[in-house]
Amino acid sequence: MKNPIRIGILGCGNVGSALVYLVAQEPDEFTVEKIAVNRIEASREPHIDISKLTADSSSVVVDQNVEIVVELIGGITVAKDLIELALKNKKPVVTANKELMAKHGTELLRIAKDNGVDLLFEASVCGAIPIVRLLKESLVGEEITRIVGILNGTTNYILTKMTEDRLDFEQALQMAQKLGYAEKDPTADIKGYDAGAKAAILTSSAFITFVDPDSVFIEGIADITLQDIDFAIKNGMVIKLVAVIEKLRNEISSELQISIRVHPMMIKISHPLASVRNSYNAVFIEGEAIGEMMLYGKGAGGLPTASAVLGDILDAKHNMSLNTFNRFAEPRLIPIYDQNKLTSEFYIAVDVADEPGVLAKVAQIFGSNRISISSMEQNGFGQNARLVFFTHSAMEADMKETVNQLSELESVKKVGSVIRVMV
Ligand SMILES: NC(=O)c1ccc[n+]([C@@H]2O[C@H](COP(=O)([O-])OP(=O)(O)OC[C@H]3O[C@@H](n4cnc5c(N)ncnc54)[C@H](OP(=O)(O)O)[C@@H]3O)[C@@H](O)[C@H]2O)c1
Repeated sequence: MKNPIRIGILGCGNVGSALVYLVAQEPDEFTVEKIAVNRIEASREPHIDISKLTADSSSVVVDQNVEIVVELIGGITVAKDLIELALKNKKPVVTANKELMAKHGTELLRIAKDNGVDLLFEASVCGAIPIVRLLKESLVGEEITRIVGILNGTTNYILTKMTEDRLDFEQALQMAQKLGYAEKDPTADIKGYDAGAKAAILTSSAFITFVDPDSVFIEGIADITLQDIDFAIKNGMVIKLVAVIEKLRNEISSELQISIRVHPMMIKISHPLASVRNSYNAVFIEGEAIGEMMLYGKGAGGLPTASAVLGDILDAKHNMSLNTFNRFAEPRLIPIYDQNKLTSEFYIAVDVADEPGVLAKVAQIFGSNRISISSMEQNGFGQNARLVFFTHSAMEADMKETVNQLSELESVKKVGSVIRVMV
């Protein structure tokens, strides 16, 4: 007779409800002791046994019968307090909370270690894709040089619809909301904050460091236009919102630093990440010995995320049976590379008054900021003239100054999108 794992679940929304469904398929392996929710009276899916619901979330954590606590509430304050309470009660915790792990992961992992229990968070990045465990365990001996990830399914869906169905940004966003891929308030997704939190967790996992999510350079996708998309396609590329995590050396001190950024990027259609469509996620890893590797899968959704949670529950149970827990090395401090010093090729669109001498003035500003143009095209005439440039490799600070100076030119009506190009 098997001894089922007795779990207590905090939160019964998309992921919590899917987890209850999955564990019910294996009654010999798992039993759900209690489930904490916010609105006890709210209607639930038929597979939820409402007699297990409680509005008293601490009671789930301290319940003698609960062996493993699963946090699926989200957000910071309540979730953090409950996780701390569970760890201090020597109970392993599994969470899918990217916001919390990005901001307080190091502190919580230390509390877990001090209490000799696991705190596992595979589901917090890229849902079903087992990227945290891969970085922390399988690739722990690898010299990873760069990670480029499509970490947010909502924005990838929107950009796919813009590219393939020629919807503009607002139309694509509305469609994503209608299908449940985007929240009513889509700010965290479209502004890149969600991907930024995940990038911080990936960096901490890959390089055994701690990265404050506020130090991640972030640009979202709300300003991408159909013209940008068309121009990318015409040049054999697609636009994706990517997180780039890169090991670099400071050019003066040669100290090891990490650059972490989330922004739209033009990617050649031959690159594996270009084929990641709709709400799928992917992580492309480059390392000294492995060369290139890509993981691809569902980055969100109740069942895919609950599957990753279930994997962590089994891992925690296995460790409990051996009276052990996952011990990871103490994080070291790795400074963040100055974004202004990064170099990249750029695409830049400038709306101008179509009058003699405009091009010379614009080109002069590029030149005086050490930016060399690799190609230029004019679209439209008269009041609708648009100059579109691709640059050779240029420094971020120089591009910023170029945009400032262009914006001040009388004949420039608007500096449109500035998008980095992956080489
Ligand atoms: N959804 C995804 O695809 C996905 C993917 C990866 C990671 N995640 C992460 O997984 C976590 C859960 O996401 P979700 O989409 O399942 O969220 P959700 O659908 O909003 O569910 C949240 C649940 O938490 C409960 N809750 C809220 N405040 C509470 C409180 N103070 N005490 C007890 N319960 C409380 C809610 O209760 P009521 O039901 O009564 O309102 C609800 O059941 C988040 O950290 C999220 O970032 C989600």
